[in-house]
Amino acid sequence: MNVENVCIPDKLSSVFIIFGATGDLTRRKLMSAFYNLVRDELLPSNFVIIAIGRRNKTTEQYREDVLEGIIKHSRNPVDKKIWQKLAAMIVYYQFDFNDLTGYSALHRFIQNIEKDSCTGGNRVFYLAVAPVFFETIVKGIQKGGLAKTCSGFCRCVIEKPFGKDLKTATKLNESILKVFPEKNIYRIDHYLGKDMIQNIMVLRFCNSVFESIWDNKHIDNIQISLTEQLGIGSRANYYERSGAMRDMFQNHILQILSMVAMEPPSNLNMDSIRNEKQKVLESIEDITSDFLKKNVVFGQYDEGIIKDKKVCGYRQEENVDPLSETETFVALKIHINNFRWAGVPFYIRTGKRLGTTSGEIIVQFKDLPNTLYYKEGREQQPNLLILHIQPNVGVFFQFNTKDFTSHNDIVPAKMDTSSFIPAQGNTPEAYERLIYDILRGDASLFSRWDEVESAWTIADRIIKYRERKKTNFPNYKAGSMGPERAFELIEKDGRKWIDV
Ligand code: BG6
Repeated sequence: MNVENVCIPDKLSSVFIIFGATGDLTRRKLMSAFYNLVRDELLPSNFVIIAIGRRNKTTEQYREDVLEGIIKHSRNPVDKKIWQKLAAMIVYYQFDFNDLTGYSALHRFIQNIEKDSCTGGNRVFYLAVAPVFFETIVKGIQKGGLAKTCSGFCRCVIEKPFGKDLKTATKLNESILKVFPEKNIYRIDHYLGKDMIQNIMVLRFCNSVFESIWDNKHIDNIQISLTEQLGIGSRANYYERSGAMRDMFQNHILQILSMVAMEPPSNLNMDSIRNEKQKVLESIEDITSDFLKKNVVFGQYDEGIIKDKKVCGYRQEENVDPLSETETFVALKIHINNFRWAGVPFYIRTGKRLGTTSGEIIVQFKDLPNTLYYKEGREQQPNLLILHIQPNVGVFFQFNTKDFTSHNDIVPAKMDTSSFIPAQGNTPEAYERLIYDILRGDASLFSRWDEVESAWTIADRIIKYRERKKTNFPNYKAGSMGPERAFELIEKDGRKWIDV
């Protein structure tokens, strides 16, 4: 063998095969993430992206589309040299992935690329397609033998939603397991790629001041609030079948909840972390009919005003059934029945077309007896720890202090690190982190099957209840913070949704 031809692939070198390369996700998120990974020198030079789409395009034309998307969506402005590096990695392959007979040709195409590209026989199959195509593509990969000939790592990345209930998720999982073992399946929940979600563990497990009071003796309640001003845009076909429960609760919210409530893992290995998260899901209270009646509120938006503009109601959105019963909002109160959390309510709310776009985890600590500094008409403010997930990323803490401008007043002092984060507004996009982890083989930020299974078990019961129950939809105005009953849900406990 000619020594000059021997190549040594980097550990992350691979052929990254994207199904759905002309879709919105690839255009908005994946390609911008790749661009920034190249910019941060995190992608090896021996790296090939095979972009598979049904449309008839040349690689050159595809690259032009990609560049347009990156200019629009990347967190960093486009630098010509960096773009050229990325462009050289991209190859377009036209193929209808419903055509199971075409996978052998794709297989040969990948093998040919591998001959020249020094990618170490490593392959990543990324399914950035609508969920209805997941099983077909996995079958095609199996039929074409694409996963059999990886001589290095061989990973499968699946976007959400993973199934539409426990039954379909189990079926999908079984199909994937025929081709990829669990350790090679990366189920995406892009929230886990967000900086502040990863920071939950750092805040809890690197600060004695927080971890020592992270329990039912000191915490009064925890709120998880993911609100959006956006409506459903052009996604009616998906959203009509999904609703807020499947779209946000079953995945993002339950993942956040399990990170907030988990026990410290014995180390930072992916399975140690995932084991602890899974225990939280297993400890969630039984979803009984009494629970459903008392603790769950569904909503659907009506027309209203967002950012001074009139917007239509959900039922008037394009391709939405004018009598649709799909929920665009859900609020719930849930308990985790274990030693640490017994008795602490977790209030959750998420929805579309609300008055704010924000993601927050709010930890409200218990009040001290208000005997010493009691004053008629003055309420002592609670200690609050708020993790701002977005749009600002930072930690907010509220504590009481003497008001130095008066003799004996007490005022809440507010510390907020958001403004101290130097990279604010330019933090690595979740997908950069996730793609990098896929290449490194670290699945900590991806959902393991047992987590998905538990999450569906909980979500299914709530969704079935919504399907049985007739709520008087629409029941909140676009631009408001959801239905009245969502306020009552928390106010009847003598608490309120905290907006800071
Ligand atoms: C997606 C949902 O998973 O998350 C969308 O399908 C939602 O409906 C989105 O808008 C919110 O993500 P982010 O990162 O914009 O908060």
